[in-house]
Amino acid sequence: MTTDPNSVSRRGLFGAAGKATVVAGIAGGITAPFRGLGGVAWAADALPKTVKKWVLTKNVGDDLKLTLDHLKMVEEPMPAPKQGEALIQVLITNIHSGTRNLMKAGGSTKVGETDKTNYACARVLQSRDKTYKEGDLIACQAGWNTYQITSSDWPQVGSKPEFALVDELNGTLSRTDYVFRPVMVKQYKPDVLLDVFGTSGLTAYYGMRECGPIMPRDRVAVAGTTGSVGAMAAQICKAKGAYVVGFGGGPDRTKWVTDTFGLDKALDYRAKDLDAQLKAAFPTGIDVYCDGVGGPLSESIAKLMNRDSRYFSYGSSAAIYADLQPDYKASAEKSAGMFGMSKTVAAIIKERNIKLEAWNQAVWAQDRIEAENKLSQLVNTGKLKPVNTVVRGIENAPKGIISQYDGTNPYGKLQLQFAD
Ligand SMILES: NC(=O)c1ccc[n+]([C@@H]2O[C@H](COP(=O)([O-])OP(=O)(O)OC[C@H]3O[C@@H](n4cnc5c(N)ncnc54)[C@H](OP(=O)(O)O)[C@@H]3O)[C@@H](O)[C@H]2O)c1
Repeated sequence: MTTDPNSVSRRGLFGAAGKATVVAGIAGGITAPFRGLGGVAWAADALPKTVKKWVLTKNVGDDLKLTLDHLKMVEEPMPAPKQGEALIQVLITNIHSGTRNLMKAGGSTKVGETDKTNYACARVLQSRDKTYKEGDLIACQAGWNTYQITSSDWPQVGSKPEFALVDELNGTLSRTDYVFRPVMVKQYKPDVLLDVFGTSGLTAYYGMRECGPIMPRDRVAVAGTTGSVGAMAAQICKAKGAYVVGFGGGPDRTKWVTDTFGLDKALDYRAKDLDAQLKAAFPTGIDVYCDGVGGPLSESIAKLMNRDSRYFSYGSSAAIYADLQPDYKASAEKSAGMFGMSKTVAAIIKERNIKLEAWNQAVWAQDRIEAENKLSQLVNTGKLKPVNTVVRGIENAPKGIISQYDGTNPYGKLQLQFAD
């Protein structure tokens, strides 16, 4: 357990030996600097002979139940990079709310294969790639495996003019694959690079920028504050001096939101009298809503939004986690439009001339350096705390993935760490 004042609630869910012990209050954030091993080559004989990998044994059914027997570990020979490729060691991967859906029949995770879509931080061990150098720390897509081959030429996204800057900075053809700058690697560990400076922090930063400037007079509601993007967005708005109300599922998680982020208020989105609590929390209406959830909470909040206010819609957790809360399922199912926005919400946005921002953060890839610099300032002045839950050890990956859906409710970004 760390006493680092910059860290919050990063809890290891399982011990290294696979015991389901909860290790509370682990580090996170900007503790001892992680150093890239620039220029060090990894000889093939210094590497293990095999790669450990978790693969899907059967599809997740319509009941969305995900159990340990959906995954099995296989060992495959250590691959060697061909021309244009690099061998990477996967240090840590993010697990996202949609991971389980990808395991359904027709999803991108096929039986016998791993989920290759995880946003990951990896170390380049051997390189025949034009961009990645041995020792680089990169953001890339990776499977639930200890090592793999990658290339800065995948995935191809074409060469649209708006990505020219990213291409120039990265030398990759991807909006997600990225060589972390040495200044970032010196300051932040891989878990923070993937959380604050990964899709969660970037989504929150771009969202609040496009709905900004956030002013001290703004009254802001941030849904999903116990989750990864909401945790970042709420802190960004608080740092701007706004009045910020967050949300959690149940009294404990709601209390955690106020205790952790010092928000003005946090409300339990499951409370029976939620509408009355919302009215009391926003007597003069809502100026900014950061919505990664959709469903009934967003309908209640939208009704309180002021004319000419700003609405950031980026996700649909209410629908994604609906199996946990059957009461919410019907409403989530009738959601329409982008990110699960209901027709009622869409009509309010139109009637009240509310500014709507709704996109995937990748559309702002060209602004990554700006975002990194601004987010860094907030982290380094103690105004933005990384919030992540790290499950350590490749052996524990299935338990970690399941914990996203079994009601264990990790705080912030759930991550699987395979190596330091
Ligand atoms: N547009 C983009 O670029 C972008 C980027 C990242 C993520 N996303 C999407 O954004 C959404 C959220 O992502 P995330 O990573 O922040 O998710 P997350 O870490 O899994 O957090 C989910 C949050 O939603 C809350 N929640 C769950 N069910 C709810 C309900 N019925 N009503 C209200 N709140 C509910 C949870 O609260 P409790 O756990 O306390 O119950 C938690 O705070 C997902 O749909 C994801 O795919 C989009």
